[in-house]
Formats: sequence, C-alpha cells, structure tokens
Amino acid sequence: MARLPAAPPSVGGPRREAWAWAWASVDDLLAAEEMDVVHICTPNATHADLAGRSLAAGKHVVCEKPLTTTVAESRRLRDLVGASGLIGTVPFVYRFHPMARELRARLAGARIHVVTGAYLQDWLPRPDDTDWRVESALGGPSRAFGDIGSHLADLVEFVTGDRITWLHALTSTVYDGRGGRPVDTEDLVVVLFRLQRGALGTPTVSQVAPGRKNALTVEIAATDESLRFEQEAPEQLWIGRRHGSELLLRDPGQISPEAARLSAAPAGHPLGFLDAFAGFVGDTYTAIAGQAPDGLPTFTDGLRSAVVVDAVLQSARSGAPVDLEPLPDSAPPSSIGAGYGKE
Ligand SMILES: NC(=O)c1ccc[n+]([C@@H]2O[C@H](COP(=O)([O-])OP(=O)(O)OC[C@H]3O[C@@H](n4cnc5c(N)ncnc54)[C@H](O)[C@@H]3O)[C@@H](O)[C@H]2O)c1
Repeated sequence: MARLPAAPPSVGGPRREAWAWAWASVDDLLAAEEMDVVHICTPNATHADLAGRSLAAGKHVVCEKPLTTTVAESRRLRDLVGASGLIGTVPFVYRFHPMARELRARLAGARIHVVTGAYLQDWLPRPDDTDWRVESALGGPSRAFGDIGSHLADLVEFVTGDRITWLHALTSTVYDGRGGRPVDTEDLVVVLFRLQRGALGTPTVSQVAPGRKNALTVEIAATDESLRFEQEAPEQLWIGRRHGSELLLRDPGQISPEAARLSAAPAGHPLGFLDAFAGFVGDTYTAIAGQAPDGLPTFTDGLRSAVVVDAVLQSARSGAPVDLEPLPDSAPPSSIGAGYGKE
C-alpha cells in the first residue's frame, strides 16, 4: 500500500489526511476501514465493476453518471444497493441549482404543454479533438446523449415530476475518426418525446456547437407561464407571461423553501456549478446519516437514465420511435425522497 504525505496545508481542515491517501490497488482501497464512502470518477465503462465491488465491501457509493453503460448493469447495481442498506447516489448535479429547484416548485400541479431544451458544448468540433468518451469501449455506446443528454433528460423528468414514455431520436456522428482512431459514438442528438401526462418535448444535444461551453437550458410552457432555466445563468429564472414577463432573481424573499435551502450563499453572492455539487455532496451525507433529503438522485435514477439513453440509441439505430415504460419499481422524481435508501 502506498500512502502519500499529508495534503498541503492549504487543503486544510481536520480531514486533510484523508485527502492525501492513495492505495496501490482498488482492493487495498476498499479494505481501508477508515473510509466510509467511495466516489467513482473513472471512465464510464469501469463504473459497474467499481461500484459493485465498493458495495460488496460495505462502502456507500457516489457513482458518477452514467451509472453504468448498460441497462442490465444499472439494474444490478440498483438491486445491490437496495439489498445492502447502503446509500448509492449519482451526481445529476444540475438538480442542485437553487433556481432549478425553483422551476420544479413552480411547476408543481401545472398543466405542462411543451418542453424545449438543449445541452450544447464545444469541446469536440474539430477532427483532432478527442477523449476517452469518443470510444464506446470506455465511454459506452452513447456519447453525447449518455454524457450530457442524460443530465438534460434527468432534469426534465425531475422538474416536471413526469416521465418520458415515448421518444423518437436522430443522431449524427460528424467524423468517422478522431486522433487516428475510429469513432463509434454520436456527436449530436435531436429527440422528440412525449411525457406520460401528455406534454411534448424537443431537446437537442451537441458536443460540436462552437461557442457553447456548457449550455444546458430547459424551457417549459404551462398554461399561464413559461419558465426557463439556463445553467450558465443559474441565479435567475425567466418567467414568460402573455402580459408581464419577468426575470426572477434568487432572492430569499421570493423563492421556495427548497430553493432557499440549497442557496449556499445569500442573494448577491452568485452561485455556480461547484455550489450545486457541494449541495449534492451535502445531501448525500445527510442520507448517509439516515435522513431523506428531497431530490437526491439515487441508483434508481441512474437506472432510469440508462433506460432513457438506451431508448435514444434504439430509436436512432432502428429509425423508429420507442415506447418507454416508467420503471414499475421507482417513485416519480417529484417524490424521490420518500422511501430513500429502501430502493
Ligand atoms: N456529474 C457531472 O456533472 C460530471 C462532470 C464531469 C464528469 N463526470 C463523470 O465523471 C467520470 C470521469 O470523467 P472525467 O472527465 O473526470 O474523466 P478524466 O479522464 O478527467 O478522469 C478519469 C480518471 O480516472 C482514472 N482512471 C482511468 N481508468 C481507471 C481505472 N480503471 N481505475 C481507476 N482509475 C482510472 C484516470 O487516471 C483519471 O484520473 C465520467 O464518468 C464522467 O461522466 C460527471
């Protein structure tokens, strides 16, 4: 076992030594009694094995998305965590922006007509841009949708409290090869979907959109209002009305208690991705302590995401629409906190 020296003082705090340890193998790491939680941040194809072994070793698991690269593996992990009594979470971290919670709170009970949205990035537009995600053997059979479309689909189901039950997808791969290696995953996805309660949706996902860095947007039109959340402007929510549209700011006097709960800093101190991530980690530890924070993404949500990603690929490959069953054994996202840890 190799153990690194303590972390530099700047890391600070009573837990600084834990930050600095390293082990020669995964087995050594999992045998360490002082460790309670494993956060799996490795390439996607390694998640199933590492998460399964971590649970078998009695560790709580934070497993990065996608939980796994196949529906069967995600189902196995969901069942394993359910049988273990341990906590398993997946960082669908955009749920933790306060104004995304505000969007969800304002949609409760609304009749939703249309969901438009996009997740656009620009780190792969050139033929020499590449990454392990490009190869299905490491990243999984879906790249753009599995990597970022999964966040968008999770957010849509989370804020609407509804499920995608029908979809038709088109995908496109811009280059046959990147960095001298063949490409067998998609760069672009356009989807048509229907939610269980009847709303229609048209998300677009791209990793070849010059100028768009991490442009996750969701706009939802209900009867009297349209609501729009933009991940790159997370301090505000656009509320569109036939008369009198407005930009709602993250001000404690005008946001829901759940949005206020996740506000890591007072209004006027802008929050970002790292604050959302800290909110996710905080709620994971709350769950480990035995409570049930609302909206914490579980391995059931990871499985649900695998089902949606798989349906997108099936549809793109067959050229036909796909019907999706809401998972018979999962709560709708709006009540995901109830029964947490018993899944
Ligand atoms: N939740 C989010 O918003 C979010 C954001 C970014 C990345 N991710 C996820 O995090 C994971 C990692 O992505 P990344 O961009 O950090 O990748 P990365 O390439 O930057 O880092 C991967 C790390 O895994 C290590 N690694 C590779 N194979 C390993 C193995 N077999 N065993 C142990 N370690 C191994 C590498 O050395 C590297 O340190 C992916 O699953 C990705 O989808 C999630």
